[in-house]
Amino acid sequence: MADLLGQLEALAKGAREAIGSAADEKALEDLRVRFLGKKGELSAVLRGMGALPAEERPRVGEVANRVRDEVEALLAGAKSRLDARKLEAELAGPPIDVTLPGRRVLPRGHRHPITRATEDISAIFARLGYEVASGPEIELDWFNFEALNIPPDHPARDMQDTFYVEASTLGDGAPDGSVLLRTHTSPVQIRAMQRLGVPPVRIICPGRVYRSDYDQTHSPMFHQVEGLCVGEGITFADLKGTLAAFARAYFGEGTRTRFRPSYFPFVEPGAEVDVSCSICGGTGRIPVRAQGQAGEPPQTRRCGTCKETGWLEVLGAGMVHPKVLENGGFDPKRYSGFAFGMGVERMAMLRYGIDDLRLYFENDLRFLEQF
Ligand code: PHE
Repeated sequence: MADLLGQLEALAKGAREAIGSAADEKALEDLRVRFLGKKGELSAVLRGMGALPAEERPRVGEVANRVRDEVEALLAGAKSRLDARKLEAELAGPPIDVTLPGRRVLPRGHRHPITRATEDISAIFARLGYEVASGPEIELDWFNFEALNIPPDHPARDMQDTFYVEASTLGDGAPDGSVLLRTHTSPVQIRAMQRLGVPPVRIICPGRVYRSDYDQTHSPMFHQVEGLCVGEGITFADLKGTLAAFARAYFGEGTRTRFRPSYFPFVEPGAEVDVSCSICGGTGRIPVRAQGQAGEPPQTRRCGTCKETGWLEVLGAGMVHPKVLENGGFDPKRYSGFAFGMGVERMAMLRYGIDDLRLYFENDLRFLEQF
């Protein structure tokens, strides 16, 4: 035992001297390995403990621990001394110009096509006097369905379409079925009316929405832009004029719009809005380079984007239902309004000629770098 204690004593003495005079971090690290490393001096002593009688081991163990603590403290002390010295040397040396441009030229990134389309759409409505509103993606059933006049037995409420949150596990008393991932941006209509309280309400809401669907034209998460305009004397003509102006600004000056009667529980009357196809110019056919002789009719091929109809369905719209105005806190006898909702993925697909929606979310740079 005396032998091992002597070795520990010598180890500590050696460490004090060596660490005290270590010149840099590298030297310090070498000393750490020499004294405390797996194959270092302390380990060697500890290995010797195996040969001791059991009653002597605690004493040697105790001293070994003390020596290890001391060496660690010496190393830490030396490290902070070296750090301080280094800092002083830097401060005393020539100054660094932090305003110099970087040496490495990194390629500049760019916005995702969905972000770009969202910003383009928002900018157009901003010019028409709309402000951007937002709402939560985890939404109450009341805002997403009930307040929008969507009855309890409506198919959209089916588990097949809607992602419900297991509300009973949240611990705040909300029953299952009352909390969900919003299936559209329309709940923001109610939230915006409640927040603003007085007309005019002119908001658009871009944001993520969720539905249980996945194929070439459906993704479980996608983006919509909602629009709402409420005030005195707002008519269907305002809705048509607004959306026609938007379509021209987004798809190009010559774009025509067409309204078809449709049903959404939160509008009355409701419409589905088509724009003339941006790919074929609304003709349904795309010219192919003429190979025939002069005098022959020009060759064309079928436009796959509009399926030869010349029209693209781009959004849902209508006059805000009186019950919805009421739920937003507006007197439907005095005020009227219109609302519309569009899918951003689809708007970008139609503008950039993208044919598979899943491309947006696969993060393949060969796709993303084309924008
Ligand atoms: N919320 C509807 C949808 O997701 C779109 C819509 C919005 C329709 C506003 C009419 C008015 O399909």
